Amino acid sequence: MLNKIKELQNEIAAIKAASKEDVEALRIKYLSKKGQIGLLFDEFKTVAADQKKEMGAAINELKNYALETINGLKENFSEQHSSSEGLDLTLPGESQKLGTRHPLAVVRNEIIDIFSRLGFVVSEGPEIEDDWHVFSALNFPPEHPARDMQDTFFIEKDPDVLLRTHTSSVQVRVMEKSQPPIRAIFPGRVFRNEAISARAHCVFHQIEGLYVDENVSFADLKQTLLFFAREFFGEKTEIRLRPSYFPFTEPSAEMDVSCSICGGKGCNVCKYTGWLEIMGCGMVDPNVLDLCKIDSKKYTGFAFGMGIERITMLKYGVKDLRLYFENDVRFLNQFQSAY
Ligand code: DAH
Repeated sequence: MLNKIKELQNEIAAIKAASKEDVEALRIKYLSKKGQIGLLFDEFKTVAADQKKEMGAAINELKNYALETINGLKENFSEQHSSSEGLDLTLPGESQKLGTRHPLAVVRNEIIDIFSRLGFVVSEGPEIEDDWHVFSALNFPPEHPARDMQDTFFIEKDPDVLLRTHTSSVQVRVMEKSQPPIRAIFPGRVFRNEAISARAHCVFHQIEGLYVDENVSFADLKQTLLFFAREFFGEKTEIRLRPSYFPFTEPSAEMDVSCSICGGKGCNVCKYTGWLEIMGCGMVDPNVLDLCKIDSKKYTGFAFGMGIERITMLKYGVKDLRLYFENDVRFLNQFQSAY
């Protein structure tokens, strides 16, 4: 029997396997119940009592040796090993996907960038405001029908605490605490009591501009806005100013840009007019300057305000402004931008 054990030990020392299946075949051959070593255990029952100790130890040693050897072979074909064997270090790495900015942030940043090239600085004001900054200082007297133009969310009535309905309130704050020359833009959120639809929301964003100095004229307003329109929508863009009314500007105008989708020929976005309305503007009403403690005899100014949601819709062809608030990554991922 000892010879047999020796023989098997030599055999096992020389075994080789080319695949997982080979290893399994070897396991069956040596270690299964009816395998070579299994048979030795059967034979062991017939060994004379005085040799049992020696034989038992030898068979166990052989069994452990076979186990170790076969497990060693098995490891060569385990998942981890095979995948690291097949590792190709020359493959390009997996790139980390970068997130994208929200389209409204992209457009806001682009607008800020354009105006900052003209020397405008950014200022911000509070979202929770009072009647003075949102209405009274902007020349909306108490009970003036112009207040009906905007549905306001009031937090408290007396004293008035309300959510600003436009970023024009920041004009007042800036003029109250600084003297001309003032050249600033004010981006921010505004709130109006409106039903949510594809074209309206109760929370949206505006960007407001203000320039006050000596001798600021309507021509300056027009040239500034033309520069903006061409930088933002493309150099072929034309602008048109239509007379309008806002309590805080005199004269007031509504600015249209030639439709960037059809180039002014007429399409369903511009409703076949060739023009898109993008902002309100005008010369700051002298009453507003005086109310903000700026000498209206010495200084003049212009102001403008636009909705960021709307301008983003026009630039990128977004058809429903609710998309801005849903944060569906399939929508957001489309806005790769330098801004
Ligand atoms: N505040 C106006 C609005 O919310 C927009 C606006 C119009 C702002 C004319 C201005 C301006 O500064 O001059 O509809």
